[in-house]
Amino acid sequence: MEYKRLFEKGRIGNLTLRNRSVMSPMATDFADHDGTVSMKLLRYYQERARGGIGLIINEYTGVDHVDSVPSPHNLRASADWHIAGLESLVDAVHAYGALIFAQIHHGGSTSKPALSGRQSLSASDVPAAPGAPAPRAMTIEEIKAVQKKFTDAAVRCKKAGYDGVELHGAHSYLIGQFFSPYYNKRTDEYGGGFENRMRFTGEIIDGIRAALGSGFPLSVRISGDEMTPGVPGALTLEDGLRIGKYLEEKGIDVLNVSNGSALNGNANCDPYSYAPGWKKHVAKAFKQALKIPIIATNTIKDPAFAESLLEEGVCDFVGLGRSQFADPDFMKKAKEGREDEIRQCIGCMVCRERLLAKGQTAVCAVNPRMGREYLYPDYPRNGSGRTVCVAGGGPGGMEAARVLAERGFAVTLIEKRPDLGGALLLADKPPHKELITRLIRTMKRELEVLGVNVVCGTEATPERVKKYAPEAVFIATGAVPLIPKIPGVDLPNVCTADDVVEGKARPAGRVAVIGTGMTGLETAEMLGAAGCDLLLVEMLPDIGPGIFPVIRNDILGRVMAMKPEVYAGHKLVEILPDGIRMTRADGAVVEADIDAVVLSLGIRPTRNVVEAFEAAFERVIPVADAATPGRIYEATKDAFDKAYHFE
Ligand SMILES: Cc1cc2nc3c(=O)[nH]c(=O)nc-3n(C[C@H](O)[C@H](O)[C@H](O)COP(=O)(O)O)c2cc1C
Repeated sequence: MEYKRLFEKGRIGNLTLRNRSVMSPMATDFADHDGTVSMKLLRYYQERARGGIGLIINEYTGVDHVDSVPSPHNLRASADWHIAGLESLVDAVHAYGALIFAQIHHGGSTSKPALSGRQSLSASDVPAAPGAPAPRAMTIEEIKAVQKKFTDAAVRCKKAGYDGVELHGAHSYLIGQFFSPYYNKRTDEYGGGFENRMRFTGEIIDGIRAALGSGFPLSVRISGDEMTPGVPGALTLEDGLRIGKYLEEKGIDVLNVSNGSALNGNANCDPYSYAPGWKKHVAKAFKQALKIPIIATNTIKDPAFAESLLEEGVCDFVGLGRSQFADPDFMKKAKEGREDEIRQCIGCMVCRERLLAKGQTAVCAVNPRMGREYLYPDYPRNGSGRTVCVAGGGPGGMEAARVLAERGFAVTLIEKRPDLGGALLLADKPPHKELITRLIRTMKRELEVLGVNVVCGTEATPERVKKYAPEAVFIATGAVPLIPKIPGVDLPNVCTADDVVEGKARPAGRVAVIGTGMTGLETAEMLGAAGCDLLLVEMLPDIGPGIFPVIRNDILGRVMAMKPEVYAGHKLVEILPDGIRMTRADGAVVEADIDAVVLSLGIRPTRNVVEAFEAAFERVIPVADAATPGRIYEATKDAFDKAYHFE
C-alpha cells in the first residue's frame, strides 16, 4: 500500500513536516533526577526521528520544579540550566530530519506532595480524583507567577532550538483544571463563566506570543471530550469545541486533540479491548469546526488505519503514541512496504503501569530495547555464521532467535507445536486479544526475513539438537502450570486454564476458576461467554490481584457483568466430584457446589528440560519463562538481553 496521505508533506504555522505523522507526547521518566536531558532520553527520541516520524512532541516537560513534581525523573524546562540538555536533544532529533516541540506542562493538583514536599496548587481545592491529596486554590499572585513560568519555559525551548511548543491542556492537569467547571470553583476573574475559565490559558498564550512573537509555532493539547459522564462539570465534546474555537481565535497554530480526564484515563490511553477508531468522531468534529490543523490520536496501530483517518478527514496529522514505543521504525517500514514487520502495540499497558503504579520508567512489552537504545546501539554483528539453536518458539524463543540472527548467527528454532507462538498462542484466544495474534505474525515474519531455520512440530530434545552441532542452546520451552497438592486435584472434572484456552477441556455448568490473576480472569471471560456459571475463588482479599487497575477494571467490567459468585479471601483446600471446600482467613470452612474446577494458580519453570540440556551441552542459556516466569515484557526483555550479550 502506498499511504499517499500519510507521506504527504504538511504545514503547521511556518513549518513544513516531511509527512503527516506526529509522535504524541508520552512521559517516560527517562530524564535525570534534576529534570535535565539524559543520554537515555536523548537516544530514545533520536531513534524515533531516525525511524521517520514527521514531528516529535516530546513528553510533558515541567515549567516548574517546585510546585509541579509529577514523577521522580520528569523532564523539565524550568531553569536556564535545562537549556543545554534540551539543545542536545533537539540536535539529535534534527539530525534525522524530524521536527520537535516540547509539551510544556504544570501538573497542578496532580503534582505529588510526596515528591515535592508541599501541598499542590490548582484552580481550587478539588482533588484530581476522589481520595487524592487536596490541592490549594492559587492566589492571583501565584497564577501570574505560574503563567510567567510557562512563558519562561517556552523561551528556554526556543533558545534550545525547538521548532515549537505545546501547552498541555488535556487530561486534567493545571490548564485543564482551569478549563473545567468540575475542578475550577473560583469566583474571581479566573473562574465561573467560560471566558473566565479560559483566561488562565489565554494569558499564557499572550505571554508566550509577547516574548517570542507569532512566528514561533504554538500548539495546545486539549481533551476534545473528557468522556466522563455522570461527573457534573466534566467537559463534553460541545465544551471541547468551544475551547478549540477560543484557542483558534487566540491565534494558536495547531490543536492537538486527545480525550479523557483524570477520572477517565481510558478515553486517553485505552487498554487492548478498545477498537481502533472508537473515538474518531471527536477529532472529526474538530476538523470540521476549525480551520487550524488538527493532530489527533486514535489508537493507531498500523499505517493503513492512519491513512484511512487522513483520507476520511478525521485529522490533518495522525498522533502515534504507543506505536512509537513499540516500533520506532513504524514510518520507515510503512514507506518501504514492510508493514508486516511493524511491531504493533498490544495495548497491554505495561508502559503506563510502570509509570503510574510503580513509579518507574516506561518500558514496552514488544520492544524491550525501548529506553535502552543508549545501552543497546546497533546489534554487534559478530555471529559470523556460528550455529546456535533455540528450543521453544514462544515470545522469548522468537525474540532470542531474532536478535541472534540479526547478529549474524546461524539460528535454528525448534518448536514442539505445529506452529510458532508458544504462550502467545494461549494468550490470543480470550476475547479482544487480536493484537496478540498480530504480534505472533510479525515475529514469525521477522524470522522469515532474517532466514532463521524454523522447525515446527518437533520437540527439541538434546539428541535432536545435537545434530545441528550448535555452540549454544537457548532454552525457551516456557513454564508449566502450578498444580496445588490438595485432595481431589486429580479428579476428572479438574483442568488448568491452559487446557481451557487450548480447547483441550470444555468445562460446563457451574465452573469454579481458582486464581484470579490475568489468566484466570481471561479464562473466566471465555467460560462465561460459553454459557458457564462462574465462581471466582481467590486466596487474596481482592480478585484480580497485582493487575494494573486500568486492565483489571477493563476485564472485571466484562467478567462481573456475567454475575459470578465471588469467593475472595478464600483458599481452596479440597476438590470433590461436585463441590469445592475452601477456608476463609477467619478459619471458617466454606463449601460450594460445582460441576468443574479450572486451576489458574500461576506457572513454574520446567527445570528438567534445562537440566537435560545442561547434561548434553556446554553452553545452555535458559530464557524467558524457562528462566523466570513472567509476562510478555519480562519474556522479551530477558531473551533480548541474553541474545544481545551472547559471545
Ligand atoms: C506511558 C504514557 C505516557 C503518556 N504521557 C503523556 C504526556 O506526557 N502528555 C500527554 O499529553 N499525553 C500523554 N500520554 C497520552 C498519549 O500521548 C496518547 O494520547 C495515548 O497514549 C493514546 O494514543 P495511542 O493510542 O497512540 O498510544 C501518555 C501515554 C502513555 C502510554
